[in-house]
Amino acid sequence: MSEYYYFYPKWLRLWHVLNALLCLALIVTGVSMQYTTHVNSLIRFDIAVNIHNYCGVALTATYFLFFGGNLLTSNGRHYLLKRKGIFRDIIKQFHYYSLGIFKKRQPPFPLNENRKFNPLQQFSYVIIMYICMPFIFITGWALLFPEVILEKFLGFDGLQMTDFFHIVLGFIITLFLIIHIYFSTIGIRKSNNFISIITGWHRSH
Ligand code: HEM
Repeated sequence: MSEYYYFYPKWLRLWHVLNALLCLALIVTGVSMQYTTHVNSLIRFDIAVNIHNYCGVALTATYFLFFGGNLLTSNGRHYLLKRKGIFRDIIKQFHYYSLGIFKKRQPPFPLNENRKFNPLQQFSYVIIMYICMPFIFITGWALLFPEVILEKFLGFDGLQMTDFFHIVLGFIITLFLIIHIYFSTIGIRKSNNFISIITGWHRSH
């Protein structure tokens, strides 16, 4: 018989949809700005800059919904990485994705009310949500107000360094998004995880 877990409360679903839409808009406008030439651009440069700035500000605001929600509700416990055996568990999950799944083996870390992420998923969510996201909007705000940036840092041009980190983080988050969507199709059905993040209820088997 199927079991259902209420994994995604309303606030989390609201954050996730806003976050997904804003990230998509930021990626499209960011890529457009990056590859604009004098003769060619996906979106007119000044329009892309404007949309990018507004979405960046909105993304910062929505991030606090995620951060505050995790701080004030029990959802935060799913982001607490354990100290012992974490890499062993990540490798176990990696083996499952690269081999076990094709041999129709059972997942090594079945989901339940206490574990809604497998170790690989948990680790990547923590890195993206608690390291990459804060750093991308801190560097983004700095580029919006460049007067706050140090002129020189460790002998490098401060503005160029901030810009470099911002772009590298943008590429990492874009890569995460592609992998995230691909892995979301893995489950009892391809649509299962997408239905869960819309309804809140996760069907385990
Ligand atoms: C079109 C874009 C996106 C789609 C279709 C999508 C899809 C999903 C799905 C199906 C889930 C539920 C399964 C799971 O827990 O892994 C999920 C959860 C999650 N997604 Fe996404 N996602 C998108 C964008 C993003 C972006 C841009 C980020 C972060 C930069 C993100 C971060 C997360 C996180 C942290 C969770 C777990 C939330 C929690 O339960 O605490 N997603 N996403």
